Amino acid sequence: MYPSQPYNHYLHSGYANPVTKSWQGDSTILKSQLIYPIFVTDAVNTKTEIKSLPGQYQISTDLVIEFMKPLVEKGLKSIILFGVITNTESKNPQATSATDKNISPVIKSIELIKKEYPDICICTDVCLCAYTNHGHCGILTSDNLIDNEKSIKRLGELSLSFALAGAHVIAPSDMMDCRIAEIKRVLFEAGIGSRVAVMSYSSKFASCFYGPFRDAAGSGAKFGDRSAYQLPAPSRQLAVRAALRDQEEGADFVMVKPAGPYLDIIREVKDAVRVPVCCYQVSGEYAMLWHAAVAGGIDLKSGVIESLISLKRAGCDIFITYYTPQLLEWLLQ
Ligand code: PBG
Ligand code: ZN
Repeated sequence: MYPSQPYNHYLHSGYANPVTKSWQGDSTILKSQLIYPIFVTDAVNTKTEIKSLPGQYQISTDLVIEFMKPLVEKGLKSIILFGVITNTESKNPQATSATDKNISPVIKSIELIKKEYPDICICTDVCLCAYTNHGHCGILTSDNLIDNEKSIKRLGELSLSFALAGAHVIAPSDMMDCRIAEIKRVLFEAGIGSRVAVMSYSSKFASCFYGPFRDAAGSGAKFGDRSAYQLPAPSRQLAVRAALRDQEEGADFVMVKPAGPYLDIIREVKDAVRVPVCCYQVSGEYAMLWHAAVAGGIDLKSGVIESLISLKRAGCDIFITYYTPQLLEWLLQ
């Protein structure tokens, strides 16, 4: 039989064999490229499953070492810590509990983890929303608008206290303007600028996909929303400008968040910057895959791996995903 079309229209031959198939695109995802988000609380001896994030927990600081043990044994390399304040009396407009050594679950956890697992790369989310009584990500003016300058000064203070406690990567998610320059300045003035990295949540969109996270972190805004500082979903230009600006201000890594619904932005940012690009597969993306699998719609393992390969194809270098525990079982290296 002769083909009905010219030979160059026939593609199957190029991936008919498993090895030739592997030549068509790089699907490797390494355990060292995964960052696992952990919610650490100011409570004592409590581990609570987060309803909207099935399989994920809020863990009191005293239990964090035990919680991490099986993951470290499976090859966990990096975590990102989120502080959760359960005692609402500790919340105030200045987010003082964030840097209070007697309260801050992040500072306490860093110290414990450094001692027990010195090889784990500790990233810390830096934002005010989990510590302010109003739930916004910055300091507010008397008429409840963002005071950008006061906010970045306070974010610099959080960054310094986490870095001095031993964090390896400072990751500000607040979206205030020019906080990267301020954080870099503070770190260098303290003499630790060359050994603490800054990963900017640079291209972070205002998104309904953060819903489950706000339950998990108790960080929802009490009034208004975050659209004055997080990016508008339709804007490609702001996403690229923000990444370029943060690179310019000294960010060691930039980020696109959410990930799956913003694959085009990942590619544009990747092509624009010269630092590694991190993608945050956020809480809502985790929940979508989870519930689709529970409903029998997709196979969880295949769905999760395909979602990450898509991020990689778009240009992702580093993955923040709540599926890290499963991936440590699924991935070979
Ligand atoms: C806090 C913060 C949020 C997320 C990471 N850091 C929520 C928000 O901005 O409202 C979202 C993470 C997720 O949904 O998994 N600024
Ligand atoms: Zn915030």
